[in-house]
Amino acid sequence: MIIIKLGGSIITNKQKSLTVKLNRINKIVEKLKTVKEEIIIIHGGGSFGHYWSLKYNMHTKPMKYNSHGISIVKNSMVELNKIILNAFFKTGFNPYVFPASNFINVHGIPIIEKILEMKEISKSGLVPISYGDVLWRYKRRSYILSGDRIMTILSKIIKPRLAIFILNEDGIYSNFAKKKLIYKLNNEKPDIKMINDSTGGIERKCNEAKQIQTLNVKVFFVNGNKPNRIIDAINNVRFVGTLLE
Ligand code: IPE
Repeated sequence: MIIIKLGGSIITNKQKSLTVKLNRINKIVEKLKTVKEEIIIIHGGGSFGHYWSLKYNMHTKPMKYNSHGISIVKNSMVELNKIILNAFFKTGFNPYVFPASNFINVHGIPIIEKILEMKEISKSGLVPISYGDVLWRYKRRSYILSGDRIMTILSKIIKPRLAIFILNEDGIYSNFAKKKLIYKLNNEKPDIKMINDSTGGIERKCNEAKQIQTLNVKVFFVNGNKPNRIIDAINNVRFVGTLLE
C-alpha cells in the first residue's frame, strides 16, 4: 500500500488565489492509474485552504478562530477536493472522499477503527481521498490540520510500504537559491526557506517525514511536474528526488 500526498503547490497555483493547475493534476492522476498497488491520496490546501487560513490568521494551534474564517477555509477545501475527486473519477478511479473529521475526534485523537476502515476501503477497489482541513476541537476551538500531518497519522496505523510527497520542486533542497537537491535526507539539513505557509512549511514537512521513516516506512519527495519520477520511485527503478529511509 502507498500513501501519496499531493502538495498544495503542485495542484494549485500558489501565486494566484483559488486557482488549480488542472493539467498538472490530470497528468499525475493518469500516471497513478498505472500503479498496481492500493493507494490512499491526501491533498494539501495550496491557494485554497492556505489562502484563507492566512487571511484569517488561522494556524495549527487549537484556538478560537473567526467563525467566518473557519467556514470559508472549510468551504474552499471542499471545493478543491471536488476538483481532485473529479480528476480521479474521470481517469477511471473510484475515489472515495474521507475527510479528516471522519478519523480524528474532537480531542484531536485519531480514531483507529476509522483509519483501518480507510485501509479496507482502499483494498476494495476504491481510492480513499482525504485532505488538509480546519477541524473543530472541543471548547469551541479549532485548528488547521495539514495534509502532511495526516500522512503521519495514517502511516502509524496503516503502515504503508511507501509514503510519497509530491512537490512542485525536485525534492528537498539544502540550498534553495541554488536548488541543491538532497538525495538522502537522513543526515542533511533542509533549507527552510523553501516553503513557508500557515502549517509550518518545509521544517514541519521534514519532521513529519522523519516520523514516518521511524515507522520503517520509506519516504520519497518527488517532483509532480515530472510524473514519471513518481512511477519510477514506486517501481524502484531509478530515483530523482529526496529519499528518507
Ligand atoms: C493545508 O494542508 C490545509 C489548509 C490550509 C486548510 P497542507 O498544509 O497539507 O497544504 P499544502 O500542501 O502545504 O498546500
